[in-house]
Amino acid sequence: MTVDIARQGDLAIVTIDNPPVNATSQAVRQVLSDAVRQTSSDPDVRAVVLRCAGRTFVAGGDVTEFDKPPVPPHLPDVIAAIEDADKPWIAALHGSVLGGGLELAMGCHARIGAPATKLGLPEVSLGLIPGAGGTVRLPRLVEADLALDMVATGKPISAERALKAGLIDRIAEGDLLDAAKELARRTTAPRRTLSRPARPPKDPNAFAAEAATLRARARGQNSPVAAVAAIERALELPADAALAAERQDFLELKADPQSKALRRMFFAERQTLKDDPRAAGTARPLAHIGVVGGGTMGAGIAAAALLSGLSVTMVERDADALAAGQGRVGDILDGSLKRGKISPKRHAEIQAVFAGSVDYAALSDADLVIEAVFEDIQVKTTVFKALDSATRPDAVLATNTSYLDVGQIASAVSDPSRVIGLHFFSPAHIMKLLELVVPDRASPDAVATGAALGKRLGKITVLSGVCDGFIGNRIMSAYRREADYMIEDGALPADVDKAMRDFGFPIGVFEMQDLAGLDIAWAMRKRRAATRDPNERYIEIADRLCEQGRLGRKTGKGWYRYSGKTAEVDPEVTALIEAESARKGIVRKPLSDDAIMARILTVMQTEGRAILSEGIAAKSSDIDVVMVNGYGFPRWRGGPMFMAGEM
Ligand code: NAI
Repeated sequence: MTVDIARQGDLAIVTIDNPPVNATSQAVRQVLSDAVRQTSSDPDVRAVVLRCAGRTFVAGGDVTEFDKPPVPPHLPDVIAAIEDADKPWIAALHGSVLGGGLELAMGCHARIGAPATKLGLPEVSLGLIPGAGGTVRLPRLVEADLALDMVATGKPISAERALKAGLIDRIAEGDLLDAAKELARRTTAPRRTLSRPARPPKDPNAFAAEAATLRARARGQNSPVAAVAAIERALELPADAALAAERQDFLELKADPQSKALRRMFFAERQTLKDDPRAAGTARPLAHIGVVGGGTMGAGIAAAALLSGLSVTMVERDADALAAGQGRVGDILDGSLKRGKISPKRHAEIQAVFAGSVDYAALSDADLVIEAVFEDIQVKTTVFKALDSATRPDAVLATNTSYLDVGQIASAVSDPSRVIGLHFFSPAHIMKLLELVVPDRASPDAVATGAALGKRLGKITVLSGVCDGFIGNRIMSAYRREADYMIEDGALPADVDKAMRDFGFPIGVFEMQDLAGLDIAWAMRKRRAATRDPNERYIEIADRLCEQGRLGRKTGKGWYRYSGKTAEVDPEVTALIEAESARKGIVRKPLSDDAIMARILTVMQTEGRAILSEGIAAKSSDIDVVMVNGYGFPRWRGGPMFMAGEM
């Protein structure tokens, strides 16, 4: 680590060089505060440019210092020293200007950004708020509405938006340092952010409504609520008082178990594949991907691959199905274009590398093929036999099956070592999670290639062994079963859904089933009926609903009845549930929210421990990563295994 001070004419160029992201480690803070002193006392220095070496400006705090007691100089003091300096400090920003990095930049007297710079205060996602003046300085530079949004959601903004909003003063056309020096020459005196008045919202009512929405959306998470309060305070209190209150809140949140859980999740998501011998092979190069089946999943997977720059060939069973599949992909790409995620030029380039066919021969040069056809072992086996002869012998073959035995599917291929599972989540171009399923015979190279694809697509990839439902669906099946027990024991679907929502899930299990449709699970239960253990407790309520044509939202009725999108408790369902309890001689007893969640969590944890002991998952944090990123488990609670550990 270095902080270099170079003289160029009457300018001092202070360069932070602390790879990989120029974090504000203790050593950086120390040398920066020395730099303030040194440049202030040097009569030949008129102004200072603060910049970073490497790929980014300061992108945050030093995560390794997080759980240790803070060592001075503290960041707020360093920033205050810069702001109070009597010579102008110009921040030259490139890459990701995040967290403490943006706070540092806001303490400077002018800011210039490279065109691709992103600026944000993402502390809320780690259970925190900015603790070095971010919530007080930001609403002095930008309108309160934007400040509220940035601090409470943690979402970064572009350089262009930052310029329009007043967060930066200029965007460098050419060389950033040259442009920063030019700006420094034109800046005659320091203009201190804290001496500016706070910028009130354009429309106080809209601001209050947005604040209320953000508070409600937090559903139990503390940091967004604290973030909203901090911005409100910054508009009302003098700067000094607002700064003191911000620091106090920051320290309290840092000690909050929610922040601990979020920080652990941050690391867990980055370590899923680390040291796992199953993925220790060499990834094969990826350029051309095949997707068999263009339904919901196939289309999403194809779109994700195309958007990441890969060529894709889709194979469907007939021309009509192919046209429908290509249409689905087209809709996703059009959506990306409309939302400005891709340019018209990029959109056209992507179309040019997206092919479709009803003939497997079109996959002859594919590097990897993902099958996403109907969830039926016969259909999948036929597809893999066709892939066996149509593809290059070194191409990796993957199935997106939800529950079927990937090892059995691999047996359809002459070289099963090239078969893996790539279990995407719906919508596949949006959901971050990817379960990479590793059958016994899979080669480490095939697994490494699957992992490389996951990385290319920006997914969080978790390895899973072969079992019914892999990690996530296996745990979900277990807690769904428990939820069924609970409604027979005395709860109603609305009770279970409410308890889950209040716990922090975006949606409860019964609402979720109505959304997805009850028919798929019904078909699976019928398939398994013959092999079911007759002594196992079996709840027939869902079967009764399906027999009545109550297949969920798409039929207007399921666990609930629907008027439009609004779910209502249906007395018919309540009567049916009560009748089933009576038929089995169960005396119904109401269950409290706590009792419901205790039962759901216990089942998740028991199943999770079985998954670990069977070696299906390598570490308990992988299970938490799956539940948080695939099943709506509230991130700030850290996942079921983390909660078990804390207890
Ligand atoms: P879907 O029914 O929307 O699409 C299946 C597609 O496969 C259809 O377009 C069909 O024409 C095509 N197809 C069927 N047989 C074919 C064959 N022999 N050759 C070529 N194409 C053929 O189904 P969905 O939901 O996309 O599911 C596909 C797979 O992904 C299943 O294995 C499912 O279990 C799995 N999955 C589904 C998820 C979901 O949320 N829908 C999530 C994760 C996995």
